[in-house]
Amino acid sequence: MNMLRPPLIFAASLAAAVIFAGCNRPASAPGAGGDAIKIGEFASLTGSEATFGQSSHKGTQLAIDELNARGGLLGKKIQLLTEDNQSQAGQSATVVRKLISSDGVVAILGEVASSRSLEAAPICQENKIPMISPSSTNPKVTATGDYIFRVCFIDPFQGTVMANFARQTLKLQNIAVLTDVKSDYSLGLAKFFKAGFVAGGGRLAVEQNYSGGDKDFNAQLTSIKAANPDGIFVPGYYTEVGLIVLQAKQLGLNVPIFGGDGWESSSLVPIGGAALEGDYFSTHFSPEDASPAVQNFVRQYRQKFNEAPDAMAALGYDSAMMLADAINKTGSTDAAKVRAALAAEKGFPGVTGNITMDADRNASKPAVILTITNGAFKYVETVSP
Ligand code: PHE
Repeated sequence: MNMLRPPLIFAASLAAAVIFAGCNRPASAPGAGGDAIKIGEFASLTGSEATFGQSSHKGTQLAIDELNARGGLLGKKIQLLTEDNQSQAGQSATVVRKLISSDGVVAILGEVASSRSLEAAPICQENKIPMISPSSTNPKVTATGDYIFRVCFIDPFQGTVMANFARQTLKLQNIAVLTDVKSDYSLGLAKFFKAGFVAGGGRLAVEQNYSGGDKDFNAQLTSIKAANPDGIFVPGYYTEVGLIVLQAKQLGLNVPIFGGDGWESSSLVPIGGAALEGDYFSTHFSPEDASPAVQNFVRQYRQKFNEAPDAMAALGYDSAMMLADAINKTGSTDAAKVRAALAAEKGFPGVTGNITMDADRNASKPAVILTITNGAFKYVETVSP
């Protein structure tokens, strides 16, 4: 089979050359099939964090559709090539290599989860393909190299926001922390939260660990109960968080439980149910934000998907729009020039706030705290850096 490939490719390119020779349509005509600007996206469309990837993808798709409706970029249509990593370790590297080597994308958008962004970032850096993570908050992601960007805040900030909220608003003094040791996000956010909580005069009562994919948390929660904390910080993702909160309440642990953006999912309440009532988490965006830019985005998103956008959707939208802005300013898809334009982004008006790239290619933006009331997420407050 392989033996047949070179002659076939040769024949195909010969045929293409003949076709193009007889074609007087400019190569850059908008919508010309093979001539679109290809942007790659990798996301967890299925698997344990499926809602992360689905939301992020919908936001990204909405941005690309809007851009194409306005005429695309540099006179060409944009083609979004989306690959599913199934929420599985190892898959992001595979699909991102494919997007770069076989598909020839000019830039990569993704991922939500920090561990999966960390898998792809070295590949993008090595190939000098700009990558924008919409919502990975672990500091190591952009530290990979100068081609790696993000449009969200990072966990030293998010951890401090929740530490201050726990100390000053909830008045907690003696905290338990339950960390997913398989997740770079969870490990980092736990570390920054603990530092902030202790710096604020609080005490760490007990620390326990789990691994993403676990279903039974009774052993850890029994140890936590024995330490008698007045609150529990769980920097995890919704699939495990829902079960943890449910099992904690079943054990009679009636203290506030709270976490970070990894809680945000339309599947959180279906998993954790009434056990989640009155708990809190920090995130990037609230569709309750009354600003005209946010309300316009919420309207467009609802029209297309028949649901309200969450943080991942809003950040996915912003990542695609900021990339388009950089390509427009550059006037080309040359990777080094696009990279430089991304690094120079200042005050880009995102639906998640204004985005300015700092020297480490991170964005400094406000966090939003939400609570769970009657099974729905409700806005509590905005905390600025
Ligand atoms: N910040 C999380 C991470 O880095 C991912 C996430 C972002 C989850 C936004 C939910 C909402 O892994």
